[in-house]
Amino acid sequence: MAAQKSLENIRNLLKKHRQSHLLAFWGQLNQAQKQNLLSQIEELDFSQIDNWVANLVKKTPAAAGQIDLIPAPFYSAHPTGQVQKRKYSEAVELGKKLISAGKVAALVVAGGQGTRLGFEGPKGDLSISPVKNKTLFRLFAEYIAAASRKYQTVLPWYIMASPLNYSQTIEAFRVNDYYALDQNNVFIFEQGTLPNFSFDGRILLADKATIACSPDGHGGSFRALRRSGALKDMKKRGIEFISYFQVDNPLVNICDPLFIGLHALDKAEMSSKVLIKAYPKEKLGNFCLVDGKVKVIEYSDMPDELAERRKHDGSLVFEMGSIAIHIINRSLVERLNEKGCPLPLHRAVKQIPHIDDSGNLVEPAEPNGIKLESFVFDAVPLASKSVILETLREQEFAPIKNAASVDSPETARQLMVGRAADWLESAGVTIPRKPDGSVDCLIEIAPSFALDKDDIKTKLHQIPQIKSGDQVYLE
Ligand code: UTP
Repeated sequence: MAAQKSLENIRNLLKKHRQSHLLAFWGQLNQAQKQNLLSQIEELDFSQIDNWVANLVKKTPAAAGQIDLIPAPFYSAHPTGQVQKRKYSEAVELGKKLISAGKVAALVVAGGQGTRLGFEGPKGDLSISPVKNKTLFRLFAEYIAAASRKYQTVLPWYIMASPLNYSQTIEAFRVNDYYALDQNNVFIFEQGTLPNFSFDGRILLADKATIACSPDGHGGSFRALRRSGALKDMKKRGIEFISYFQVDNPLVNICDPLFIGLHALDKAEMSSKVLIKAYPKEKLGNFCLVDGKVKVIEYSDMPDELAERRKHDGSLVFEMGSIAIHIINRSLVERLNEKGCPLPLHRAVKQIPHIDDSGNLVEPAEPNGIKLESFVFDAVPLASKSVILETLREQEFAPIKNAASVDSPETARQLMVGRAADWLESAGVTIPRKPDGSVDCLIEIAPSFALDKDDIKTKLHQIPQIKSGDQVYLE
């Protein structure tokens, strides 16, 4: 009787929000499927759905109009002048102290669908390193192990997966013995999902008993950190700073004393690394000041005129692009959770497989619906203070987005070799180069060998002579 009543309530609720079709196949489901579908419906946020449908699904939100954008101030990659030089040195010392004191944790967001790459399995399991073909997860794990040794500390690692790749992620860590890390210091957790909509505002069904849904974006990390217990775990360990990065950048410097130190010295709550854009409309967020607050304006929302605007010396006025590397205070994540994680949702027009009204599977060749997600950089203006630090593209950015051509595994491997060659050359090692200047050998520097340029100088005696065509692995 009670079950009957609750089914009746759900039917009424769905009717009220024009989603009754979710129970269209109810009579054809077995008990387990019914239970499964009901629990998915109960997870839906009905207080929001009508608003999403009206403002994000059925229409594209109006552009913000003419707002006054000013480029946000940033710290250059290299300090200029005595005062700044002193500040950078002080920051590096403070950063090292905070890392050594166990105040820093690593957080990788690895819940994306990796549609463009088209790789079966979690992107973190993609083999990428130029000589040993190590996976992204292994590279990060080795970095974390090496940094823990260097700073004589424990650097816990939080990995956000999504319902689509959580079990595969767990499995990748399990079969690889947690990449030699202590399993107690590795915390894999799941992010939330949001329902997918047709253009007319109906929630799509993936099959007769399953709502079509997708991960709620990297901004979902704020809520997922709390829901999963990761935030509590951080608190228990005394973590104050979260070093946030994406799974698809093998060059990320996860534990950068300068970045952490500047963030802490300036008492910031969420800080970001940026680099000089290669061209005005490069697909990177733009760091702007809006009403005195740092805000990231997506490349697609940046008016062309502003994106193209140049200074007297020819450089871009809005020259800094976001590479999704942040330091986030644990206390900011806690505070935003108390406020219900008020990050806006963004719409993405996508091809979404689903069943039609007769229950037949439709695999659309054209975009047919809307996915919703939140972005981590929308938390920047919610921070009381925010530091922006420039980094150098060739030192810290090798995005893996596409299967081939730009931002692909191929380009990432070249960038990894390029950075390794640069580190060795700046320590005085001769690197064979082709007439066009590109590196004429394969080099891979394991994190155990060096985490930065300076580490190379202490290991010069271990570096062999390198000839054209060699494959060199330094560990
Ligand atoms: P992207 O926005 O590049 O998406 O994610 P993606 O899933 O890797 O690739 P496409 O767009 O489907 O081709 C940037 C980073 O944010 C993570 C991704 O795993 C990647 O590290 N991410 C993205 C999540 O963790 N969850 C999400 O819901 C979305």
